[in-house]
Amino acid sequence: MAVFGSFCLIFLVLRSVATIEDYCSLNTYSTNGTYMQFTKEPNVDEFAIAGKFKGLHCCAKGYRSIEWYKDGKPYPWPLMVSQLILYPESANQTVYTQSVTEADAGNYTCLLRNDSVVHSHTIQLKVFEKIPDDPKITYVSKDHQVPLGQQLRLFCEAFAGRVDLPDAHNEVVWRKSGHNGTLDDEPRVRQEKISREDGQTFGTYLIIDSVRREDFGEYVCKISKPGKSIEQRVFVDEKIEVEYLNPNPVPVAKLLLCLSAIIFLCLAVVILNLQYGLPLRVRFKDTFGVVEESDGKTNDVLLLYSSKDSELALGTLLPILESRYNYKCVHRELPSSINYWFGELQNDALKSRRIVTLLSPPVVSDNWTSAAIYQAIKQLQALGSKLTIITLKELPRCENETKNSHGETLTILLRTINVVHWERTKEEKFWLNLRLRLPPKRRNERLVDGRSQTQGINSSRLSNDSEESSDLV
Ligand SMILES: *[C@@H]1O[C@H](CO)[C@@H](O)[C@H](O)[C@H]1NC(C)=O
Ligand SMILES: *[C@@H]1O[C@H](CO)[C@@H](O)[C@H](O)[C@H]1NC(C)=O
Ligand SMILES: *[C@@H]1O[C@H](CO)[C@@H](O)[C@H](O)[C@H]1NC(C)=O
Ligand SMILES: *[C@@H]1O[C@H](CO)[C@@H](O)[C@H](O)[C@H]1NC(C)=O
Ligand SMILES: *[C@@H]1O[C@H](CO)[C@@H](O)[C@H](O)[C@H]1NC(C)=O
Repeated sequence: MAVFGSFCLIFLVLRSVATIEDYCSLNTYSTNGTYMQFTKEPNVDEFAIAGKFKGLHCCAKGYRSIEWYKDGKPYPWPLMVSQLILYPESANQTVYTQSVTEADAGNYTCLLRNDSVVHSHTIQLKVFEKIPDDPKITYVSKDHQVPLGQQLRLFCEAFAGRVDLPDAHNEVVWRKSGHNGTLDDEPRVRQEKISREDGQTFGTYLIIDSVRREDFGEYVCKISKPGKSIEQRVFVDEKIEVEYLNPNPVPVAKLLLCLSAIIFLCLAVVILNLQYGLPLRVRFKDTFGVVEESDGKTNDVLLLYSSKDSELALGTLLPILESRYNYKCVHRELPSSINYWFGELQNDALKSRRIVTLLSPPVVSDNWTSAAIYQAIKQLQALGSKLTIITLKELPRCENETKNSHGETLTILLRTINVVHWERTKEEKFWLNLRLRLPPKRRNERLVDGRSQTQGINSSRLSNDSEESSDLV
């Protein structure tokens, strides 16, 4: 009988050793990565009955070394610290003892190292003298989030010691809250039972390979030992896959596009302004400027010139002003002596909205100096209407400018009047510059005339020639 007993004991020990050898290779996660990681759910709590076999595991892969510590003391441990020894066949993932004592209880820490990282995991071992009344949970999955279509794996494990009664057994079963019956009737769902250390510790994996929406919800793991059962709840819901690659993308492309659009616009404005700015301003003035018709004056322009410039004034400028741009003009030759200007021109000046003067050396008796030009312009200003000077020759450049009694120089004076330079080669620009200074003239005069006629505006004066009627508009 004793012989049979010891045979049985040896058999049991061998069986236990066999299971610890396999432990880390069974029920592992189905991941393919080779980087350092745990290969199955790492237990935090372990329980044992004094005198029985006990093994602790750190199942991992991808590590260069595993070191074990008990309560901070590195392996190998003196007997008073712990009897547990490494199990080299499992690549140091396991420490065990055939007969655990209460002195072996404590915190066992494994350190996994690869060349750059250290993972640490601590298992708290408790040793009972006799089997505790309640099952002790060694592992329950935490609440989970799983993406649709991925595997759901829940694990629930407990220690209850070994039951020697014939039809008594320890068991863990998963069910889903709100569902009658077990989950086994669903072929997609499987429960894998495991037990170790001679059935003292036992657990069940719940595995759903491809999660559907209806699988989300609360799962209950029911741990039963003879005469006792406890339940643990795990909640599983959907994990929304977020695009991690570019969670909050800076719209570089859009910004660049915007920037280039702005630059392009600025360039366009600059170019358009250089190219068409003047025409646009003239067009704008003619379209939107206040028409100066009700000021009691009869002429738009009083054109003044010296006798030597009469050909330019009467042969070129006047016809264009009158026929092309519809300005009503009068023209006078400037008296040769500046002293007569005011008296002789005052009348016409009062009837004209603008005075346009051709300024050339003969105007100032060929005395082309700042002082003489200053005097001439002052005389013209005295006539009262808005003055535009058309210079036929470059004005003298600040050669020791004479100031008048108020400290005013020609340069300062010129800033207060309009100066347009006449250049036959840039005639187009000249005309735009000049027109800009003249009273607004609506385009489509004929059309406007028609309208004003129907509206009865100044209809009495429309009987005059068309030039005048357009003048009125
Ligand atoms: C692991 O790799 C095998 C083949 O290389 C593949 O069939 C399997 O789907 C992979 N498993 C996971 C979880 O990636
Ligand atoms: C070490 O393990 C970490 C995490 O498991 C992994 O990211 C890293 O690439 C590994 N380093 C080496 C050198 O293997
Ligand atoms: C296992 O541990 C022993 C002693 O600490 C050490 O000599 C051996 O290299 C380790 N083996 C592995 C695979 O980590
Ligand atoms: C083991 O760790 C737990 C939690 O960290 C702590 O409460 C306990 O006192 C530790 N046991 C020993 C023997 O250090
Ligand atoms: C569960 O079973 C009870 C009675 O057997 C039944 O009334 C109930 O409808 C069932 N519930 C579900 C969700 O099947």
